[in-house]
Amino acid sequence: MTTEPTSTHDVIVVGAGVTGLTAALRLTEQGKDVVVLEARDRVGGRLSTESHGPSGQESDFEVGGQWVSPDQTALLAMVEELGLETYPRYRQGDSVFVTPDGAIERFTDDLPLPAATNAEVDKLSAALEKLSIELDPDAPWDHPDAAHLDSVTFQAWLEAQSDDPVAVATVGLFIGPAMLTKPAHAFSALQAGLMAASAGRFEHLVDADFILDRRVAGGLASVPAALAERLGDRVRLSADVTRVVRSEEGVVVHTPEGALAARRLILALPPTHVSRIRIEPPLPHRHQAARQHTSFGLVIKVQAEYDTPFWREQGLSGTGFAPHLLVHEVYDNTNDVSERDTGTGTLVGFVSDLRAEEALTWSDDERRERILASLAAYFGDAALTPRTYVESDWHTQELTGGAYATSFDVGGLVRWGSVLRQPVGPIHFGSSDVAGLGYQHVDGAIRVGHDLAAEITAALG
Ligand code: FDA
Repeated sequence: MTTEPTSTHDVIVVGAGVTGLTAALRLTEQGKDVVVLEARDRVGGRLSTESHGPSGQESDFEVGGQWVSPDQTALLAMVEELGLETYPRYRQGDSVFVTPDGAIERFTDDLPLPAATNAEVDKLSAALEKLSIELDPDAPWDHPDAAHLDSVTFQAWLEAQSDDPVAVATVGLFIGPAMLTKPAHAFSALQAGLMAASAGRFEHLVDADFILDRRVAGGLASVPAALAERLGDRVRLSADVTRVVRSEEGVVVHTPEGALAARRLILALPPTHVSRIRIEPPLPHRHQAARQHTSFGLVIKVQAEYDTPFWREQGLSGTGFAPHLLVHEVYDNTNDVSERDTGTGTLVGFVSDLRAEEALTWSDDERRERILASLAAYFGDAALTPRTYVESDWHTQELTGGAYATSFDVGGLVRWGSVLRQPVGPIHFGSSDVAGLGYQHVDGAIRVGHDLAAEITAALG
């Protein structure tokens, strides 16, 4: 195997997730010679649709990202540009809330909590709403109170404002288990504020009808698939980049199959995965430290497909919340009937952070049994016997390592946040994990992809 580059390009993009593919497409449109190197044997990164089910009756399951919300204008514009279509998530009927003693309460607006607790939830939500409006999602470290907000955990920040533990747990859940997929004591109040600001405002995040508004026909993975189709043979799969040698002139990028050279390099990877590549000479200490202070959250996305969407017959939407249950939130995830009209119905639920860690110590059979029991707590015994059961396993995949995305430890955002998107010589960095608007979402991946392309166009002229 030669280590001399076999070809030279304007730009090499490492990573064929939405960030890398977006940047590559825009650079190609600017007339740049671009190659995309992807370690997996498919494009899409954290977006993937898998087929599961009884032989001959398989259904499609979106095992990674899937929902689109109205504020995600970069994603909506990309969906339109690529000629794709969206459809609304099923939401007709009542939602359910399972109380700690197992009672099922139906509701449509506010969670059915005691009035005093709901007042505390409103108070905490108002504080977070204010912070989300004050914060610039592209520079949360510029907030006048940033140093303090980044030095206290989100849990402590909530507890300082309310002594109602149920209200604290409820608002903590919206950002912790449900979004950053870490317990609320593992990240700062500033990080929570960034998550809220990234959706425009906090009230968007807590409104399931807003943040989980629509899905893409054929799956959200159709977006990277269509981007890759436009890029054609510029995208090279099974090309795991292991080493990068950088100089003033550009980079030489090594994979087990050989080396390529370019004037500029985009590492379109989560910050955690930049350090998986040997970079020579090494990145400056600040850049290494910044990435060492980020980590993936952990959530197990679970889908159970039934012969019929039986909950709909009871006037239920399939939406449910139960902060104390193994599956803390659940939604109707039946695919658009026009795609495959099999008459089946699918529920999707999430097991997050500490509970997910514990669940992963159980055998596969025990985990399945306990997760289905949790779904049955919302919808009755009919939920115990799906025809197909699918758990997403991003945490076991070396090229991802968790879900949904990465965030800083306490104090990291102020110390290191601004470093993550700074280029080092010819190397540029980005992924949805470093987005402002659309942070942790595909919308953010597209925004960062556009920014990276603009940065390099400006640098190369
Ligand atoms: P991404 O991680 O997708 O891409 C990086 C690519 O780099 C990968 O393809 C990887 O294989 C490759 N790579 C890594 N190292 C390499 C190397 N050394 N050499 C070559 N290639 C390398 N978002 C949303 O908008 N709505 C939603 O509903 C959800 N829900 C959701 C659920 C679950 C379970 C997950 C895991 C994620 C979501 N998300 C989401 C988040 C969303 O999927 C995510 O933010 C984007 O897909 C990230 O895209 P990126 O391109 O930034 O990174």
